[in-house]
Formats: sequence, structure tokens, C-alpha cells
Amino acid sequence: MEEEAKAGVDIWSYAFGFVKMAVAKCAIELGIPDAIGSHENPISLSELSSVLGCEPSRLHRIMRFLVQFQVFSEKPTSQGATGYVHTPLSRRLMKQSENSIAALLLFECTPVMLAPWHCLSAWVQSREDIPFVAAHGKDLWSYAAEDASHSKLLNDAMACLARTSVTAVINGCPDVFDGVGSLVDVGGGNGTTSRMLVKTFPWIKGINFDLPHVVSVAPESDTIQNVGGNMFQGIPKAHAAFLMSVLHDWDDDECINILKKCKEAIPPENGKVIIVEAVIGEKDDDDRLDFVRWTLDMIMMAHANRGKERTLKEWDYVLTKAGFSRYNVRRIPAIPSLIEAFP
Ligand SMILES: C[S@@+](CC[C@H](N)C(=O)[O-])C[C@H]1O[C@@H](n2cnc3c(N)ncnc32)[C@H](O)[C@@H]1O
Repeated sequence: MEEEAKAGVDIWSYAFGFVKMAVAKCAIELGIPDAIGSHENPISLSELSSVLGCEPSRLHRIMRFLVQFQVFSEKPTSQGATGYVHTPLSRRLMKQSENSIAALLLFECTPVMLAPWHCLSAWVQSREDIPFVAAHGKDLWSYAAEDASHSKLLNDAMACLARTSVTAVINGCPDVFDGVGSLVDVGGGNGTTSRMLVKTFPWIKGINFDLPHVVSVAPESDTIQNVGGNMFQGIPKAHAAFLMSVLHDWDDDECINILKKCKEAIPPENGKVIIVEAVIGEKDDDDRLDFVRWTLDMIMMAHANRGKERTLKEWDYVLTKAGFSRYNVRRIPAIPSLIEAFP
């Protein structure tokens, strides 16, 4: 009966789960997190409404919903009115905060990224093409190549995830970069990862490698070389190849091809490939991020070509088939793990 009672509560998050996402999107679009962040003291509803140009009673309903779920909290202003302040959760919705996911949330909420979800069941029944293609007539990478504004949203969203994961890599296993003289970040997006790694490990010469339309708008840097190309054709040579959130976009055969190209790019005697990706099905007791990995697997189904998140056994298959002689997997306090693979 306890399970029955729990089901009677949990089921509502399946029917209405999108509402939290939609209201958080609304809050970011209105600029609520940034307005509260730039105000030293608690900000009253009337001040917030006038700063943001909002209708106060509607804004009040948005705020009281968010406060219910610890996105913002209430604190009296110096005049004794109800004021709003940040919480750890709401700070992550600020555009500029260190661990912001604002860009990721806005990207996932675009009509372009939501449309493929309506094509998921047809794909599972093999009635339609992969969901993104069924919705848009081309895959995500071709879509982004032709739509600069969507490409920017995509790259900014990936940079959000990268900041969190790379921080965990730097703190969790800095020794991985000992003696790495040069590193090519394959599918490195706007270069956020390369910049973070080279800043922390200044002996590394960084190459940010991605599709030409992506690197052509990546920030210029004195320490990072941006190189455009196609990883299925060839990858710039370096002591180590780094792949983060790239292999999960592709099926096993495509992954094996990418890994083989990485292997060709590194020295056979002392090079390595560093993979930062989720490993599913390996939950530790205190690992509260596990649901994100399973969620990402569904996101790959909807958005990536034939991509998927992989179990240890599935990682073993692609790494062995690509010809790596050994590898090790290291857990870090983040969604992905770090896999070092040696030729
Ligand atoms: C999910 S994003 C990950 C970006 C970055 N590694 C990160 O973690 O923030 C995948 C990246 O792969 C790039 N990509 C897709 N196809 C590619 C190809 N054929 N050659 C090189 N890069 C490619 C995309 O442009 C995109 O930047």
C-alpha cells in the first residue's frame, strides 16, 4: 500500500514535469536571476516588477511557485516588505554564475530541441527516421551548420556542461595531464574545455578541433589553436586526444571509427585518449547524479544521430574494437567518468 500511495504522488511529475522547466525558462528570459543577483539586499516584488517591466500580480505567481521549490527564497526588505534573495539552486540560473545551467536550459527548451520528442515513439517502432531528422529533415549538426543562432545556443549550452565536468576532471584526476605536452580536444565546441585545461596545466599546448562552422566563431586565444575539420576524416596530431560528450552522439561503429582516428593522431609509444563520458549502470550508493545519466540516454535518443550512453561492457566493446590495448575508468564527482585509453 505504501508503494500505491507513493505512486499516487509520483505520477503527477510524469503529467506535469515540464512545468518546472517551463517556469525556469520564463524566469531566465525575464532576467529574474540576474536582477536578484545584481541587487545587494532582498528585492521587493514592486522593485523587481519595475526593473523587469513585469505585471506585478503575474510576476508574484511566478515567484511564489519558484520559492515553493527553493528556487529563490523570501527575506524581509529593510522596509519590512517581502523580498527575494538567491538560493544555491537559483544561482545556477544566473547567466554568468560559475555553475550556471541557464544556457543549457534555454537550449533544451527551444522549439527546435523539443520537436524531436514528439517523434520518439515513431522511431522506437521504426516507423520514422531518427527523431531529430524526422522533425527537421536533417541531423542536429547539419541543422546547426545552417542556422548560426541555433549553433550559438548549442555551443553555449555545451559550454555550461563542460565547465562543470572539466572542473570535476581537474579536481578529481589532475595526474592524467602530467607529461601531456599537447592535447587535441576533438569536438571541442567553442573551446571552453581547452581554455580551462591549458589555464590549469600551462605546459599543455591546446588544439580545439571541431567542425569548420563551429571553430570559425570560437573565441580567438593566444594559447589555443582552433582547427576546423571532420573527425571521421582526420584529427590533428597531439600527445593526447580528448573527447568529452562526443562519443555518446554516435553509434558503436561510428565511435570505433572516431577512436581509430584518435589513435592515429597520438604517438603509439606514449600517447593516450582521454574520454569524459557517462558510464551507466554503475551507481554508487551515495551517487545522486545517476538519474541524469539515464536521462541523457533518452536525450541522445531524441537529439543525437544514433547515439547512446554506454555501460562499462559497451565501453569495453568500442575501445577494444578500436584497437586500444588497455584502459582505465575513473569515477569523478560529476555526471561523466574519465576513461584513459592507451594504444
Ligand atoms: C555534444 S557537443 C560536445 C562539445 C564539447 N566537447 C563539450 O563537451 O562541451 C559535440 C560536438 O561534436 C562536434 N562534431 C559533430 N560532428 C563532428 C565531426 N564530424 N567532426 C568534428 N566535430 C564534430 C559538434 O560540432 C559539437 O561541438
